Amino acid sequence: MEPAVPGGRLVDLEGADRERALPAIRDGFEGIYRWHAKRTLRDIARVRAIEVDREVVGVAMLELLVPEVGYVYYLAVRTPWRHRGVGVRLLDDALDWFRASRARVVYAAAEEHNTASLALFRSRGFRLVDRAEPGWREGGLGAWGLRSRMRIVFGEVLLGLRLAPEPAGGAGRGPRQV
Ligand SMILES: CC(C)(COP(=O)(O)OP(=O)(O)OC[C@H]1O[C@@H](n2cnc3c(N)ncnc32)[C@H](O)[C@@H]1OP(=O)(O)O)[C@@H](O)C(=O)NCCC(=O)NCCS
Repeated sequence: MEPAVPGGRLVDLEGADRERALPAIRDGFEGIYRWHAKRTLRDIARVRAIEVDREVVGVAMLELLVPEVGYVYYLAVRTPWRHRGVGVRLLDDALDWFRASRARVVYAAAEEHNTASLALFRSRGFRLVDRAEPGWREGGLGAWGLRSRMRIVFGEVLLGLRLAPEPAGGAGRGPRQV
């Protein structure tokens, strides 16, 4: 598929180079979210970015919470670069990585009134996860035992996407995660 942003290039950001994503974080988040996103930027396993002429125009922070479960911690696009396919390209790249890592479920959190974010995730098949759902090991999307690591705060909803079914014959049916 042709990149929607001419010249836009997907790159890994490592070490001090991650600081280049700060303007995207400042554009994307305020208050406690911004503080936490900056901290996550330093600590997280994988940071992917789209750059144009060395400017980071969008960033995604990704982690496997357990080998079977991916989590999109933050995804942000610089304001002047929005609505040009940067966000969806980062999300597709994230899903490619989670699939290659053999994750079976991917989650993301979004503020309940963040139309852009909800539409972005829904456009790739994510749906709202109900707190009462059966756990992911049972074939549902319930995030039992993982929610605390997602740091979901009041006013946020959890979105989930199943990438692969649980293995037949019980391999995926361990004890319920608590
Ligand atoms: C959410 C965000 C990452 C989207 O980035 P983007 O580059 O503008 O998104 P894209 O151009 O790739 O759009 C992809 C899809 O998302 C949806 N979308 C994006 N912006 C939207 C908006 N303002 N209103 C409704 N839907 C929107 C659409 O479905 C769109 O597909 P379409 O263009 O075919 O209709 C961006 O708005 C942002 O950085 N927001 C602040 C940070 C944030 O909320 N991050 C997400 C939670 S961690």
